[in-house]
Amino acid sequence: MSKEYEKLLNALDCIRSKTDFVPDVALILGSGLGGFADEIDQVASIDYSEIDGFPVSTVVGHKGRFVFGYVGDVKVVVMQGRIHYYEGYPISDVILPTRLMGMMGAKVLFLTNAAGGANLDFNAGDFMLIRDQIMAFFPNPLIGANIEELGPRFPDMSEIYDKEIRGIIKATAGKLDIPLKEGVYVQFTGPSFETPAEVRMASMAGGDAVGMSTACEAVAAKHMGLRVCGISCISNKAAGLAENPLSHDEVQETANRVAPLFKDLVRTSIENIGKIL
Ligand code: HPA
Repeated sequence: MSKEYEKLLNALDCIRSKTDFVPDVALILGSGLGGFADEIDQVASIDYSEIDGFPVSTVVGHKGRFVFGYVGDVKVVVMQGRIHYYEGYPISDVILPTRLMGMMGAKVLFLTNAAGGANLDFNAGDFMLIRDQIMAFFPNPLIGANIEELGPRFPDMSEIYDKEIRGIIKATAGKLDIPLKEGVYVQFTGPSFETPAEVRMASMAGGDAVGMSTACEAVAAKHMGLRVCGISCISNKAAGLAENPLSHDEVQETANRVAPLFKDLVRTSIENIGKIL
């Protein structure tokens, strides 16, 4: 058994010693959406620091935990606080929580994030359903010995974002009267924002939004056979497309402003996804 898989099993044991809750849907909360975890019908929560081998941030004030509970009658595990590559962790640690949620039993991974709009039609506050992704400017998280227990060496990525679930999210947005764009997410490492030239490159390559998370988690989940979906909150026009320099404050402000609508869309989508599981 590989060291990496052993580490995952240890972490899973640790979780199982605290709760036997088996989620159907795993949800990763992006910037501005963290409060969603407090709105679900909670059954248990486990701080990342309580889990053996979990990448715990050395940044003061950083808090993160898994929250277990119900959205409607759908059993969910929620990551409140995600792990970013730019924090300095090895890529295998960045995707450890995603794998762990799959090993807990989740069948669907629902990804959310804040992202910069590279598509000229996108404005701050828009929501984008992720149709596909580009991770070519970021290390592939599956590099290294393959964990055969999780999935194949050369997993197919021709439909990372599940078509049926995308349809459900689109229909949900329509019913709620929430405008929903659709596009391709491009992951960069961060932590610096992109240059205007990088944004132009992403756009010419077919990208619609740029960010610092999500794509590697999607690949890790797809490798394990999870069904994946995701929505970006466009928090700003990407570098070179707006008048002002980018700032994390702007990202937070927009994400907080549209959070109530974003939460409605995520909550109702999960309830509807639950009907096909
Ligand atoms: N670039 C990268 N990540 C981001 C951005 C951006 O413009 N906005 C929010 N996250």
